[in-house]
Amino acid sequence: MKIAIVGSGYVGLVTGGCLADFGHDVTCIDKDEDKIEALERGEIPIYEPGLAELVKANVAAGRLAFTTQLAGAVAAAQVVFIAVGTPSRRGDGHADLRYVRDAAREVAEAVSGFTVVATKSTVPVGTGDEVAQIIATTNPSADVAVVANPEFLREGAAIDDFKRPDRIVVGIEDERARSVISAVYRPLYLNKSPLMFTNRRTAELIKYGANAFLAMKITFINEMADLCEAAGGNVQEVARGMGLDNRIGGKFLHAGPGFGGSCFPKDTLALIKIGQDLGSPMRLVETTVSINEQRKRAMSRKVVAACGGEVRGKTIGVLGLTFKPNTDDMRAAPSLDIIGGLLDQGARIVAYDPYGMAAARGLIDTVEYVSNAYAVADNADALVLVTEWDEFRSLDLARIKTAMKAPVLVDLRNVYSHDEVTRHGFAYFSVGRPA
Ligand code: UGA
Repeated sequence: MKIAIVGSGYVGLVTGGCLADFGHDVTCIDKDEDKIEALERGEIPIYEPGLAELVKANVAAGRLAFTTQLAGAVAAAQVVFIAVGTPSRRGDGHADLRYVRDAAREVAEAVSGFTVVATKSTVPVGTGDEVAQIIATTNPSADVAVVANPEFLREGAAIDDFKRPDRIVVGIEDERARSVISAVYRPLYLNKSPLMFTNRRTAELIKYGANAFLAMKITFINEMADLCEAAGGNVQEVARGMGLDNRIGGKFLHAGPGFGGSCFPKDTLALIKIGQDLGSPMRLVETTVSINEQRKRAMSRKVVAACGGEVRGKTIGVLGLTFKPNTDDMRAAPSLDIIGGLLDQGARIVAYDPYGMAAARGLIDTVEYVSNAYAVADNADALVLVTEWDEFRSLDLARIKTAMKAPVLVDLRNVYSHDEVTRHGFAYFSVGRPA
């Protein structure tokens, strides 16, 4: 099939690369000329494991191309995916649909023959109707079926998530779209990934519902972690014991410093706004957002307490800055709040992240960035493990201890065990586990 993808960001690039890998003929479109030129040279603007190789192989095979010229690529396509950003609108938390609307107008002017226009961007309920309306107004003779096709991939595991999804959700209002979308995803459902058809509004709600529910699940276990600390329990075992119940499931029950990233924070806020606007408030989600905000700052107080109640003039080493491992994304990363809180208290911060430092430098310039975990430990009064990159999982603790001024480890991802770390002579603080 001939497919055009409007927007060559995270979702657009992964979708384009994977659909090309399935044998489709894909063109990824972006307005950013520098980005398209870089992609044509094989340079990927984001760090996502496996993506550079996937793109390169499919470009070489002639199945994947990049362009800034939307009209030609859309005219040739049977399916056009809209995968542009929907950031939080400044001030009110609503999703900003400006890029979706612009894309809809441009696509409307360019389509030729029956075309399925599928929205992959995360959009509020009713956006599909609006996109259909924009297309009909811009080009009354366009023969288009607008589909809601939300994406559920995670950063850092994007290719695997795309190729082996738990489900593919497709919201349609025009029956002709069903066979077209089925052909796009044929390799996936042959591989037993359920293809779920529903109406457009329901599909849009599923996406926000899923993200908000996962954010709530994480927040629930984070509060359980606090309770475990107060009551003397072990949150990892609580999570395991709860998660073995199939009705609950063990995933997304890892306690930590609070959720961050480009999706959960903005999508929970947008869902809250949608609920308020429709007079059907999402109270659990409202509470989730507020608990999570407080939690990220509370983590800096945890570090201060681990340092004996005072960090002024002390050097705190931070391991990991990105909101999760295997990405270079710093958006809404808990590290920003934690570091902010510690700087406010007069600490000096030294930090290292395998892929996040370029983005981090643009956000906080009062941090000293170094090139590996051992340099972070050098003369530090405490180490804080914020992001669970694999390379932090088996650090040479003896070497770290020798390098540090005071052997204090605050492990906000529960990567280490109490026995292992204290055996090396550290004071060890983790999340929701007995000291
Ligand atoms: C999330 C969803 O998981 C995807 O299904 C969705 O497609 C995506 O948002 C999106 O809407 O685009 P992502 O933000 O990439 O994916 O990453 P997650 O793995 O969900 O992690 C989000 C945050 O939750 C991270 O800060 C992570 O550290 C935290 N988290 C996750 C926990 O603290 N505990 C957990 O058990 C799981």
